[in-house]
Amino acid sequence: MRSRHILIDTDTASDDAVALIMALRNKEVTVAAITVVAGNVGVDQATRNALYTTELCGSDVPVFRGADKPLSRSLEIADWFHGSDGLGDHGYMPTRREAERDHAVSAILKIIATRPGIEIITLGSLTNLALALREKPSLVADVSRCVVMGGAPCCEGNVTPAAEFNIWVDPEAARIVFHSGLPIEMIGWQLSRGSAVFDTLDIAKLKRFGSPLADFTISANRVAIEANKIQTGQIGIALPDPVAMGILLRPGLCLESGDHYVDIETASELTRGMTVVDRLNVAHDPRNCIVWSETLKREARIKICWKLDVERWKALVMEALR
Ligand code: BDR
Ligand code: CA
Repeated sequence: MRSRHILIDTDTASDDAVALIMALRNKEVTVAAITVVAGNVGVDQATRNALYTTELCGSDVPVFRGADKPLSRSLEIADWFHGSDGLGDHGYMPTRREAERDHAVSAILKIIATRPGIEIITLGSLTNLALALREKPSLVADVSRCVVMGGAPCCEGNVTPAAEFNIWVDPEAARIVFHSGLPIEMIGWQLSRGSAVFDTLDIAKLKRFGSPLADFTISANRVAIEANKIQTGQIGIALPDPVAMGILLRPGLCLESGDHYVDIETASELTRGMTVVDRLNVAHDPRNCIVWSETLKREARIKICWKLDVERWKALVMEALR
């Protein structure tokens, strides 16, 4: 029975596509809409990639094109990681489906208003959601969960030593969202590393499925496999967005979490987009409370997942691709 409604915001490239497949094939949730934002690739390409993925899944979920650049910075894409089309440069067929006419931001506002209690997951920069919040800050009351793939809590980033890509692309938007009072569950990039990487054995298993979705996952991540090897030294497919999707679909996949104040660095060049986490809860301390006053005022803490049930998460991904 599908009783949960979810909205997915994505800068669709190779790992986003796998996350979309997981949601579209899951029988417990209804995907109300996919809204697209510029990030890994430009927004037009990301929209084509989202539409292509929905077609592969035989889904007619509406797809909305959104912001084509961050709130106040120029767009910097990650074609070096995902390929120039975001899907490993295989020249996939043009889609038959087209994006809806409405802008993603108006779609987000309408969908939240008509489906109170909806769960949101963001797989790209937070520009669309920040724009929606600017227009209607009270939307937070109608959102039951907001799972954010983004940030590098208390660890190194993947785009700079300090920051993870989705937050780094549009730190001002991330700050608006993290300060909004939305019930945020932050799924940092580090959860997709180490044993969570789909290694050569996992890829061989996917190949044995011989299913179109498993084959697509391997081919769409071709460039990402090379980039991940250069970046981290690990061989295999890193899947940050599917980790977030797994936790959205099955909250129990997060084995350890904590509620913390988090703020986003927007001023410094060195640490742009850093997710500064008050892991020891010292923000109230007199030494810090002036700098942290804006964050402390809001009282809302961010739920950070520290540990993923890798085995069960991989099984969930596999199930979607079979
Ligand atoms: C995030 O950045 C993008 O490149 C991926 O799609 C993922 O959303 C990982 O840092
Ligand atoms: Ca993404």
